Amino acid sequence: MSGFSTRAIKAATTAPKVDQIPSSVPIYQAAAFSTADAAELGDVLTGAIPGYAYSRIDNPTTAALGDAVAALEGAEAGLAFATGMAAIHATIVSVVRAGQTIVATKAVYGTTRDLLVRILSGLGIATEFVDPRDPAAVDAALARTGAPILYVETISNPTIVVSDLAALATVAHSHGALLLVDNTFASPYGCRPIELGADLVMHSATKYISGHGDVLAGAVVGSRDRIAAIRPILIDVGGALAPLAAFLVLRGLPTLAIRMERHTQTALELAAWLAGQDGVERVHYPGLPSDPSHEVAVRQLHVFGGMLAFELTGGREAGRAFLDAMMVAERTASLGAVRTITTAPPSTTHRQLDAAALREAGIAPGLLRCSVGLEDVEDLRADFELGLAAARAATS
Ligand SMILES: Cc1ncc(COP(=O)(O)O)c(C=O)c1O
Repeated sequence: MSGFSTRAIKAATTAPKVDQIPSSVPIYQAAAFSTADAAELGDVLTGAIPGYAYSRIDNPTTAALGDAVAALEGAEAGLAFATGMAAIHATIVSVVRAGQTIVATKAVYGTTRDLLVRILSGLGIATEFVDPRDPAAVDAALARTGAPILYVETISNPTIVVSDLAALATVAHSHGALLLVDNTFASPYGCRPIELGADLVMHSATKYISGHGDVLAGAVVGSRDRIAAIRPILIDVGGALAPLAAFLVLRGLPTLAIRMERHTQTALELAAWLAGQDGVERVHYPGLPSDPSHEVAVRQLHVFGGMLAFELTGGREAGRAFLDAMMVAERTASLGAVRTITTAPPSTTHRQLDAAALREAGIAPGLLRCSVGLEDVEDLRADFELGLAAARAATS
């Protein structure tokens, strides 16, 4: 008979055999998977046979999330990552080489901008920023640089500009470049960039895909070949998603459609109301017919989504007073959750940008970005009234 510790280890690590199909994807909380013999392990590791060996390389729960996002985006394949930034990094690096230039749109998430101008520039990869609403400028930048990548966000963070993905795909492909799209703000319910010609689509699944603000995750989807080219970077850089995190994202995903419908309905109502309020200079929301993105949004988005932004006439000071007065909305930097989140991009998500870069990216000093949650619209309107009153008092 073996010793106690040997028996305890064997008893506690013997996985039960399950013949029936579970009603949710189980959490395969295991660092490694053992095989019947050494040859099988070798074959799994080299990809000669399907299977699992080590969870940084592949894990059934995280693989299920990659497959699920691919299915919803209408892509051949998908991979899940530890965060949206890990997915964005691996995707870009799978395409671009030292000495090349990326063409990216001006209004991108601050950390993506940082990745491009701080990290990748140090590795000999330059970035040229262009206005996504100016196809001639995009065309000229691609022609001048010979860039292998045109990088855009379906709905930009934080200025809520909707890019014409079909037109940009045509321009990118005419120069032999790939169109890479961050579809985080729209979600796969709001937009499916692959159907519009995009080559690779990335998500911060921390946001709408999971929807509950309790987990970090990322994903990329695209053709089988392009995803196969990204996998070695996931493995070698170590951006693997934990199985428990993948489970939490999978638990949020089935309600994506009803959440996005409700986010949109409430955001539309708040945006229209805000546009008529004293102290509000401008509202950015593609669902408003007056918004410059409305026409492309109607063509390209299934729903306008829950992200809106507005500029207060009182600038930064008014923004601070507005945020401090809110009782329902959360003051934080994330988005896409059940709870409404309001933030001042110049001092939070886009703090890396100096005054000139903020101006260049179209971010006004008094800009507030709001991720409209699932609360009752009357309560949110009352909260915004509190914010506006405080903003007016602070700057009168
Ligand atoms: C549009 C967009 N893309 C990517 C990211 C990065 O995602 P994560 O925080 O999951 O790395 C964010 C985060 O806010 C974002 O807003």
